[in-house]
Amino acid sequence: MKNQKVGIASLGLHFPQLAMSMEELAKLRHVDPNKFLTGLGCDKMALCPEGYNIVDLAADAAQRALSRWNGDLKDIAMIATGTESAIDMSRPLSAWVAEKLGLQGNIRSYEVKHACYGGTLAVRQAVEWLMAGVAPQKAALIIAADISLYTPGEPSEATQGAGAVALIIEKDRPLIAEIDPISYPWSKPAFDFWRPVGRAHPLVEGQFSLHCYEEATRECFQALTQGKDAAEVFNQFVAMCFHTPFPKMVKKAFFVLGRMYGWEEEVIEKMYATKVDPTMRWNRLCGNAYTAGLWIAVASILCGMPPGKAISAFSYGSGCGAELLTLKSGVLAEQAAWAKDVEMDLMKRRYLDANSYEELRKKQLHEG
Ligand code: HMG
Repeated sequence: MKNQKVGIASLGLHFPQLAMSMEELAKLRHVDPNKFLTGLGCDKMALCPEGYNIVDLAADAAQRALSRWNGDLKDIAMIATGTESAIDMSRPLSAWVAEKLGLQGNIRSYEVKHACYGGTLAVRQAVEWLMAGVAPQKAALIIAADISLYTPGEPSEATQGAGAVALIIEKDRPLIAEIDPISYPWSKPAFDFWRPVGRAHPLVEGQFSLHCYEEATRECFQALTQGKDAAEVFNQFVAMCFHTPFPKMVKKAFFVLGRMYGWEEEVIEKMYATKVDPTMRWNRLCGNAYTAGLWIAVASILCGMPPGKAISAFSYGSGCGAELLTLKSGVLAEQAAWAKDVEMDLMKRRYLDANSYEELRKKQLHEG
């Protein structure tokens, strides 16, 4: 394992064409907008137009990652999608995307499921597959993509969102970020959030889900810092990224961590403000993108980062499973080629008013 460098060689992100502000949702639901803006830390939610589905979203992100990759399409030997928005119980999302991209041949193609943790699991599988040396000179295309919609009118509605991140994982050329082969997983069966077959929207035990997320955070970070000075470990990271169902969740979990280590509130606040809060600038504008959420934060904070800087990445998926990864920025992070796509998507998207949103939701229920 020593001296093997595996990581992200290319990145592509995609956000859909519609959005809605928290103020507009609050007006529709007769709620104080500050509940969503300050209480949850949300700002905008990304929404897909009628007829634009998870296949389009995932393929659009993949196309962007491939278009900038300094490699050959025939060297992609794994395509894996992490999603909980799949359109078929048997055919993996990867097959739909591969069809759109014209990818076929000696390629392992599959879908990974574990709520929001599915994308990270696919990334880990690619890293470990490349480390094993069973596919020399090959690369993996990993896509984390989701459209998160809840039952209209439920408290969870404010946390809706959508987005996709495609990552090309390669050995020896982790130009954007190297991924440490050692990671810290944790799991515990729970019903905090789940979607039985045939249901359009998930079932959520809202408050319980916050506890599960916090417990998983404590367990993963404890595994990382075991036997070490936690403050020293945290200070090695220039940024700390988290799965972001809504920004306030991340803040709550970070404070739980700080208190676990016995730090003063102002120390935790300062660390949160410098290392954590800045990672969520795109998450605030797209909402919960489930499997893509963590990787949106990672892609955003890598923008403009000089090489060799360490970051942490905490993945959480309901059910529940979690994993803490560490990464180091590569030579192409500074250029941040993927940021232009994001800026363009965000600039071009159309904002819905309450009536158009309600109409869209009705039509989407019929589509589903
Ligand atoms: P809620 O009923 O809106 O909760 O549901 P609340 O009444 O507790 O209010 C939320 C916050 O707003 C509170 O702040 C209130 O005080 C504050 P806190 O006390 O917690 O700091 N508030 C206000 N602030 C300012 N002005 C006001 C005001 N009123 C209230 N006027 C809940 C919130 C998150 C439960 C709901 O949105 C939900 O069920 N969301 C979905 C579940 C979720 O996102 N869980 C997160 C952890 S699980 C996870 O991350 C996995 C997931 O991504 C799925 C997957 O893995 O696939 C979800």
